[in-house]
Amino acid sequence: MSKLPDLPLVGQITEALKKAPKDIRKAVKEGHKDQILDASYPYREEMDKKEYEDHMKRLQLQLVRMMYDIAQTGKRLVVLFEGRDAAGKGGTIERTRENLNPRSAYIVALPKPSEREAGQWYFQRYVDWLPAAGEIALFDRSWYNRGVVERVFGFTTEAKQKAFFRQLPDFEQMLVDDGVILVKLWLNVGQAEQFRRFLDREKDPLKQWKLSSIDVDGLGKWDEYSEAIRDTLQQSHTPTAPWTVILSDDKRRARIAAIQTILNAVDYAGKDEDAIGPRDPKISGGLELLR
Ligand code: ADP
Ligand code: AMP
Ligand code: MLT
Repeated sequence: MSKLPDLPLVGQITEALKKAPKDIRKAVKEGHKDQILDASYPYREEMDKKEYEDHMKRLQLQLVRMMYDIAQTGKRLVVLFEGRDAAGKGGTIERTRENLNPRSAYIVALPKPSEREAGQWYFQRYVDWLPAAGEIALFDRSWYNRGVVERVFGFTTEAKQKAFFRQLPDFEQMLVDDGVILVKLWLNVGQAEQFRRFLDREKDPLKQWKLSSIDVDGLGKWDEYSEAIRDTLQQSHTPTAPWTVILSDDKRRARIAAIQTILNAVDYAGKDEDAIGPRDPKISGGLELLR
């Protein structure tokens, strides 16, 4: 078989790494596979594989119970998966959805707004994808684009951003008022780990498609992102619609924490607290975990 040509952005991560802060370059170059790169992460190594798989299996069984109950009782569930590029949203969503019915538990991953959508009320296209009775909508990115990526890249104006933050609490309040269960997950990845994941994507022909020009151009905007993230989370962490921040440098611990958060948010027949297991407050909690 002949070698496939690389996709267009390949090589640009390696180039960008050369311009990264010295400690980040050092961590990426010297860290070995199972090691957590970020010194401030509360564990040095990733979770044991067997322990992860056992727990994940129990959690997925609970998700099936939860889905069945949601279908039977007509509940509606919305989960927002948010975080920087390469924070692990995609993989976490896959694990959540893996054993669920694709008809009732669906992923919403909207592309950038079309010209027509750009001329609508900002929340309008998201409203189209909200669940009906018995459904679970898993949002891979969400209306929070306006607070973070759109601000960092200047895709929005300050006036539109102000309007967004003004409308946001009421918008989410309306959903919750109407009975929607709203779970907001913020996956937080460190800078060295983000580089490592991008470099993996660059090397792996099965993952190269995941690289976008936003990823590449975003690499030089770490601090702008941090500021936009802090502002956004502070303005949207409300009693009715709080965030759960999950440190995601270790994918395994992060996936478990995400699914635990979802299960804990829903009342369902057959809930088994032992199977869900205790929350790990070192990697899963409120805004105090943001670094
Ligand atoms: P992903 O990381 O979700 O695979 P990208 O990294 O390409 O996708 O883009 C990040 C987010 O920025 C996406 O949700 C995308 O829709 C959004 N985005 C990209 N370009 C624009 C734009 N011109 N205006 C508004 N949003 C945009
Ligand atoms: P700054 O001067 O970059 O610190 O930004 C001041 C405020 O302006 C921020 O808190 C944001 O709310 C807003 N802001 C900054 N950049 C943008 C942008 N590109 N688009 C919309 N609003 C922005
Ligand atoms: C992921 O790791 O799946 C990401 O969060 C998606 C992305 O690169 O934006």
